[in-house]
Amino acid sequence: MSKAPQSQSPWTARILTLFPEMFPGPLGHSLAGKALERGDWAIETIDIRGFATDRHRTVDDTPFGGGPGMVMRPDVVDAALDDATRDGLAPAIYLTPRGRVLDQALVKELSAGRGVVLLCGRYEGLDERVIEARGLMEVSLGDFVLSGGEPAAIALIDAAVRLLPGVMGAEETLEEESFESGLLEYPQYTRPAEWCGRQVPDVLMSGHHEKIKAWRKLQAERTTQSRRPDLWAAYQKRLAQDGAGQNQKKGRAS
Ligand code: ADE
Repeated sequence: MSKAPQSQSPWTARILTLFPEMFPGPLGHSLAGKALERGDWAIETIDIRGFATDRHRTVDDTPFGGGPGMVMRPDVVDAALDDATRDGLAPAIYLTPRGRVLDQALVKELSAGRGVVLLCGRYEGLDERVIEARGLMEVSLGDFVLSGGEPAAIALIDAAVRLLPGVMGAEETLEEESFESGLLEYPQYTRPAEWCGRQVPDVLMSGHHEKIKAWRKLQAERTTQSRRPDLWAAYQKRLAQDGAGQNQKKGRAS
């Protein structure tokens, strides 16, 4: 059976950058690259410099109040954003270490929409007025400073694209992986069963599916508790809330 023609455009990452040649970069390889070739998603770059109005195509200037570095001009970036959001593709996200830290919940939300407009900063930053005027969502990859937003854009797109229907092969891989349950992933092993004197845990060789499941859950819980107390606290809170919800339902039923 032939596939029906797609009436809607695929999930689209539209990137505003001073370095369009950085894309698709790693996104052109592996799972994301294959999905890109199939047309499961699309990537568009917009060169911010194309919206400069002077002879020298200036996109930045010195900061008012002094200080090192250069700041991206609001008028130039605003014109580029006008172009990027012309068809209502939203939300417009500015990648900056000052933003909300990206997590799987936000990735899921973005992946479920029509796509994203990503503004990659360079220099010392972007004039605050364009962030305010546009109501830009500010998103950070983590508590470290990159030399520009491009690697953060690549990471965000990779995380979102792999959640699109049909991009990952086996659906169950998604359900079991880190963060889907609120826990870090349990440890994995493959052949050889003994390597450098180290054995694969017996339970994994037992063929006893219930025991394997229980062991993996325990490992995931232990790893999360010791490495990420923040995730562990959130997990326990959710368990307590779910428990309270179940009890309320039972109370109503009786
Ligand atoms: N640009 C520079 N550093 C960044 C970070 N940590 N996250 C997102 N964008 C950035």
